[in-house]
Amino acid sequence: MQIDPFVAAMPKAELHVHIEGTIGPTQRVALARRNGLPCPDEEEIAASFDYAGLEEFLRVYYEGIRMLATERDFYETARTFLDRCGEENVIHVEISFDPQPHVERGVPIEAVMGGLLAACSEARVSTRLVMCVNRDRPLDEAMPLFDLVRPWREHIAGVGLDSAERGNPPVKFAAFYDRARAEGYRLTAHCDVDQENSVEHIRQCLDTLKVERIDHGVNALEDPELVERIRDSGTCLTVCPTWRPSDPAPRRLDRLRRLFDLGVRVTANTDDPGLFASGYMNRTLSAVRSAGGYSKPETIALMRNAFLGCWAEPDEKAAMLERLSAYADSSI
Ligand code: HPA
Ligand code: ZN
Repeated sequence: MQIDPFVAAMPKAELHVHIEGTIGPTQRVALARRNGLPCPDEEEIAASFDYAGLEEFLRVYYEGIRMLATERDFYETARTFLDRCGEENVIHVEISFDPQPHVERGVPIEAVMGGLLAACSEARVSTRLVMCVNRDRPLDEAMPLFDLVRPWREHIAGVGLDSAERGNPPVKFAAFYDRARAEGYRLTAHCDVDQENSVEHIRQCLDTLKVERIDHGVNALEDPELVERIRDSGTCLTVCPTWRPSDPAPRRLDRLRRLFDLGVRVTANTDDPGLFASGYMNRTLSAVRSAGGYSKPETIALMRNAFLGCWAEPDEKAAMLERLSAYADSSI
């Protein structure tokens, strides 16, 4: 997979990446060794990366999460990722994190937040944090998160909803989203690809959760009226055209392209770069560009969607859009 120089030099934003999903086999083994935890070797971990479906993926993802034990672990994981963003000209990144499994294992929330925020404060890259609720856990476990993270409220831009979708519709978390909205959080939620009731879940996100972004959301294409509504409201879809080792090309490529051509605010993201063969932004976007047939102006337009849909302050957003325009002017 060749990295496209036009993509590599472009100022980029990423809106959908899970910090725990940046832990690749090498980092997982190193963390396990340091924390004295049992862990398969790198080859065995990498061999489990041809996931069949979301639930199988999540089993591997949660195995990796277990290795994070200390503030240093969170700091180094985020620092490594943010350094990589800098090297790849990703100038703004919105990082999702999953507090519940860490707290459940007995990791203090201070270690999670302290590590993540130390890395963000040192980064050369603009960052925002998105606190995700695991939808396969009960609402009663989600609600106390507001008080748990209260000391870091100003450092968390928004909330999201992730993990296993089957049997866990967005409406299950209506009360959580009402509270998040009242507390001034920005709102997004996963509607994973090809799930049971995907289209209905997308509708629930708009009608009940009142989100401004949807993570994935490509099944909206099955309902033309829904596509129109998403387009007209400027709702951003953070699509992840990732691929697994045995996939010949990025997945969801056709659907990303159709949504783009219909004028929906779609973006390209890596989701879990340590766990997919697609890896980080330049590799993912290079493949999307060549396999999806995006001209240079179209690639800029795709990236403009990410800056438009991001949760930076209006002046920062305008400055980043200006950088992207300047890059387009100088390189097309
Ligand atoms: N979907 C749901 N949950 C997740 C994902 C995802 O893509 N990545 C990490 N947790
Ligand atoms: Zn995700």
